[in-house]
Amino acid sequence: MRALSVASECAPLVKTGGLADVVGALPGAMAGQGADMRTLLPGYPAVLDQLELGDVVLSEEDLFGGRGEVVQAQIADLKLLILRAPHLYERGGSIYLNTAGQDWSDNPERFAALSWMAARLAREGVGEWRPQILHCHDWQAGLAPAYLRALGIHNVRAIVTIHNVAFHGLAPASKLDTLRLPHWMFTPDGLEFYGQISALKAGLVYADKLTTVSPTYARELLTPEFGMGLDGVLRARSADLSGILNGIDLDVWNPATDPNIAPYATPADKAENKTRLINEFDLPPGAGPLAVLISRLSEQKGLDLLIDALPGFLAKGGRLALLGSGDKGLEDTFRALADHHPNIAVRIGYDEALSHRMMAGGDAILVPSRFEPCGLTQMYGLRYGTVPVVALTGGLADTVIAANDAARKIGVATGLQFAPITAQALSGALDQLCALYAQPDLWQHIQRNAMAHPVGWGESAKQYAQLYQAII
Ligand code: ADP
Ligand code: GLC
Repeated sequence: MRALSVASECAPLVKTGGLADVVGALPGAMAGQGADMRTLLPGYPAVLDQLELGDVVLSEEDLFGGRGEVVQAQIADLKLLILRAPHLYERGGSIYLNTAGQDWSDNPERFAALSWMAARLAREGVGEWRPQILHCHDWQAGLAPAYLRALGIHNVRAIVTIHNVAFHGLAPASKLDTLRLPHWMFTPDGLEFYGQISALKAGLVYADKLTTVSPTYARELLTPEFGMGLDGVLRARSADLSGILNGIDLDVWNPATDPNIAPYATPADKAENKTRLINEFDLPPGAGPLAVLISRLSEQKGLDLLIDALPGFLAKGGRLALLGSGDKGLEDTFRALADHHPNIAVRIGYDEALSHRMMAGGDAILVPSRFEPCGLTQMYGLRYGTVPVVALTGGLADTVIAANDAARKIGVATGLQFAPITAQALSGALDQLCALYAQPDLWQHIQRNAMAHPVGWGESAKQYAQLYQAII
């Protein structure tokens, strides 16, 4: 099986969230299933800096306003095709936002270019290698299936994976020609979304199969509450939509070999990491649990609920170490909270190594998201014996076994879940966390269960392989 994965980010080269981890891990996971996967990625400065570029395999003189070239490259086992287009990608700011924190105004062109070149690679291949499948991730690759259709390429199948339906990739209708989209596609049955062009909707309409990153989110997406305006389109395509849970990289996230921490194999041996973390964050010693949280600071992540639920937790001796960045208002609020409460410590920024130290040193990891397509940090938590406390939604529902009476009776709980997703229910879960933590035998039992829970790619890679096979 030959597949071209198309995405706007890919670990370890460029990452703003879990999408990058998944895109970076997928080729390795799929190799185990006999799939030969290459990954098409924009040539941002950070990407170019880390790679030695090989041959140009495809080029276009005027790719949305300047020359574009697809160049081969490789990092570790990852086979890459880098789209070099200086006028689109070689600039400061972040990959999606300018220095003022707004979307780049030419984002529609930037990711249309990526999708266009994906369709051309589908048609023309790379030397002898021609993909049978385009595996498109999120709105940034959403136009690729539309271009396959527009260019009359019928022998390559397209899959769109929804990592987050909140981002639609909208563009004004006036860009239809600029984006090389045929006018007949601009209808409510096509890629029109309330008078605008929607790159994500294009993908949902024109791909052969749709997936998302957990079974529960696949069901939630069909409801107005979670579908973000695309639930109708998704209901119409529900026969082609499935949920395949993400895995995590078991080598990068391995408490027994992690170079960032004091390695450990059993929960009892986490203690050294906890002491170090308390010192690093300058938190007071105490008998209550040490909760950690590592996240983009955005509306999605339910941090406002946590802010409301914290007083009760702190009063019970709980401590919180938080690492995150994003929304300026939330950054300021958490800084202010840390200034006022000795039991709260906050690091604003992005720090991969610190995220490993926190995962090793924490007792619990909090993920109070309002919606969560899959979520990765609760899975790192499981692997590190850092008990997840999660909202009952999306992939959080599919990865954590809540310590309710039934689960405790047969000894299978791995964490805590709360529903409905309110500050009050989260408070209840934090109370339960303090109560369980105060019973060392029971607590260690939950930690051991968590560490034994399978969080790798094995099963999910098999499911993707079956899907590839079915549509080839
Ligand atoms: P999302 O993709 O919605 O942000 P995920 O849980 O799927 O959520 O993935 C987030 C990824 O980004 C995880 O690998 C997490 O550890 C990482 N991450 C988020 N914020 C930070 C941060 N401030 N520093 C380091 N890693 C972070
Ligand atoms: C998105 C989602 C997150 C998911 C990640 C990788 O960013 O918000 O839940 O884990 O994609 O699929």
